[in-house]
Amino acid sequence: VMKKIIITIDGWSSCGKSTLAKQLARELHYVYIDSGAMYRAITLYFLRHHIDWTIPAAVHEALQHIKLEFITNHKNGQTEMWLNGENVEYVIRDLVIAEKVSEVAAVKEVREYAVAKQQEMGRKKGIVMDGRDIGTVVFPHAELKIFMTADEKVRVQRRYKELYEKNPNITLEEVKQNLEHRDYIDSHRAISPLRQAEDALVLDNSHLTMKQQLEIAEGWVKEAIVKAE
Ligand code: CDP
Ligand code: CDP
Repeated sequence: VMKKIIITIDGWSSCGKSTLAKQLARELHYVYIDSGAMYRAITLYFLRHHIDWTIPAAVHEALQHIKLEFITNHKNGQTEMWLNGENVEYVIRDLVIAEKVSEVAAVKEVREYAVAKQQEMGRKKGIVMDGRDIGTVVFPHAELKIFMTADEKVRVQRRYKELYEKNPNITLEEVKQNLEHRDYIDSHRAISPLRQAEDALVLDNSHLTMKQQLEIAEGWVKEAIVKAE
């Protein structure tokens, strides 16, 4: 049996982190955890319940009422985000959530809550987790850390295509503004800002197909497993 490792994938919004994470998890029979989905689900809860996330006591209280679960959908084998017994996988991808999620994710209480859960999920290894601070804060000792990036134009186009399929009223400009807004907040916040871990391997997929990015990552995985054994 091959040794199980932890693989972290961090990087800018919409560059293909979750696509690569899912590809690797499927191949290695690892668990895939989308850490961004947790911040999105918490944001959904705060918006629905009118929680003022600038007030620490309000956040603390609200978090006591949140139950987050990753549940596998047996129809397609994908892991989906559930919030208090409701499948929210589809609704958390909405631009309404994307517009607020970076503000919510910058709150200390929210990060402590999410990071503790993420670390618990990685206890047994055999996990691929993507996000912004996974290699730097959540799993600083991960055996393989990937930092993904792609040209902003490419990233905007990729996310626009996804959102347009759900809502044809969406504009390229809106998507661009949201990406720039989130990337700015995510990389400038005081707690766990987005940055490349010193020992991360960089993957720029601006001009790579999904198959090509997987091939590169597979090579890195092999090396990391050999090194860990
Ligand atoms: O997939 P996309 O790049 O649009 O973003 P995501 O991974 O769903 O994450 C949504 C937001 O959650 C990010 O813009 C960050 O503000 C926050 N996030 C974070 O702060 N830390 C993480 N580990 C993951 C996401
Ligand atoms: O997780 P993150 O926000 O970084 O990105 P994603 O949701 O994995 O990917 C955003 C979009 O880019 C998806 O629609 C992917 O199918 C697409 N993509 C692509 O076209 N080429 C790649 N090499 C990687 C992703």
